[in-house]
Amino acid sequence: MFEVTFNGSLKGTIRVPSDKSISHRSIMIGSLNAGKVVVKNFLRSEDCLNTLKAFKFLGVSIEEDSDGVITIFGSGKELREPFDVLDVGNSGTSIRLISGILAGQPFYSVITGDRYLRRRPMDRIAVPLRMMGATVFGRENGKYPPLTIIGKRPLEGIVYESPRASAQVKSCILLAGLFTDESVSVTEPVRSRDHTERMLKAFGVDVVVNGLTVSLGKNRELKTDVEIDIPADISSAAFFMVAAAIVPGSEVVLKDVILNPTRTGILDVMEDMGVDFEIFNRRSVSGEEVGDIVVRYSPDLKAVTIGGELIPRLIDEIPAIAVLATQAEGETVIKDASELRVKESDRIKMVVSNLKTLGVEAEEFEDGMRIKGKAKLRGGVVKTSGDHRIAMAFIVAGLVSDETVLIDDIKCIATSYPDFLKHLSSLVDV
Ligand code: S3P
Repeated sequence: MFEVTFNGSLKGTIRVPSDKSISHRSIMIGSLNAGKVVVKNFLRSEDCLNTLKAFKFLGVSIEEDSDGVITIFGSGKELREPFDVLDVGNSGTSIRLISGILAGQPFYSVITGDRYLRRRPMDRIAVPLRMMGATVFGRENGKYPPLTIIGKRPLEGIVYESPRASAQVKSCILLAGLFTDESVSVTEPVRSRDHTERMLKAFGVDVVVNGLTVSLGKNRELKTDVEIDIPADISSAAFFMVAAAIVPGSEVVLKDVILNPTRTGILDVMEDMGVDFEIFNRRSVSGEEVGDIVVRYSPDLKAVTIGGELIPRLIDEIPAIAVLATQAEGETVIKDASELRVKESDRIKMVVSNLKTLGVEAEEFEDGMRIKGKAKLRGGVVKTSGDHRIAMAFIVAGLVSDETVLIDDIKCIATSYPDFLKHLSSLVDV
């Protein structure tokens, strides 16, 4: 049990860890390069280290120096049949994107993860990968890991209408598309994060974006000797942005935060709710927009309704936004977010039940939730269900409770943010 009791404010400047989505992609796409790829500011969290380990297992030479710089000596598109099962732990991004790459490798591989990942749906990638000619097996007819993949080279083309806005599905297909010369395109109902498209372009691959459709063009070879610098993750910054907004007397500066428009939905919500924040020092780093954000205590927050096209732009931030909503006047409604049910945990259920434990009036919907503010939080035992973002969101909730909040498991935080508690302590001003 981890105990949160707090009485003070948060002040100071931090750089939260690097972006998780881009860190995964740097190893995956870097490994398909035939030369040297240098990755600066790689996120050394459990999820991304699992991706790194998987590619070492697939025969790629990867060196890590003490400053966190990673050098990948890619093997071109030729990976090596793994000697054992690839285990990617808790990481949905790893299993779904790596499967796209394994689909183009003419060998046998098995990929699995921890007990939470083995309950997450994989048919969303198994179906299009089979359409491209790969053989994919999994528990319950390919629905759940472990997945067995027998790849094929070349794969067949695909014109895919994705039933959901998922960057993992889109990226899986685009990565598999590197192993065919035929047409490859994915259309989404709403745009999801576009880091794969941006990184493939940085590697010289022809990627054409037309509205909600992303296609691969003629050149699918990756140019060599690319350097990638990874900005800070807005999904990790979210916890400190919310904390600064709700803890009286706070002012926190978050450096180098990614401001890619497919990721900044939380900033739109903060603006609508009346959070006092500013973005400065806007610049571009390795093809991604970046800036510094200052967030100050905001006593007059108001409730909002969040849904539609905004959802994919803030999907991972909903646990943090739910905590923000407890301190906003009125009823915040989140809808169109049924994907939350199949994240690292069922985040609709976990957020609502934990909010109720802390005395907040909240209700679950099939595709979202309703939260009534402004609430005075009481103490209680929060359950994380092994979900890093539930753990961090409720540590932040604990900062505004007059009573002690206990969190049942905080080990899971290492999935994305191993230094979270260290950073939080560095901001405490009593
Ligand atoms: C991710 C995409 C999102 C997100 C996940 C990371 C990615 O998942 O929730 O944390 O890196 O592509 P979906 O693609 O399933 O929406």
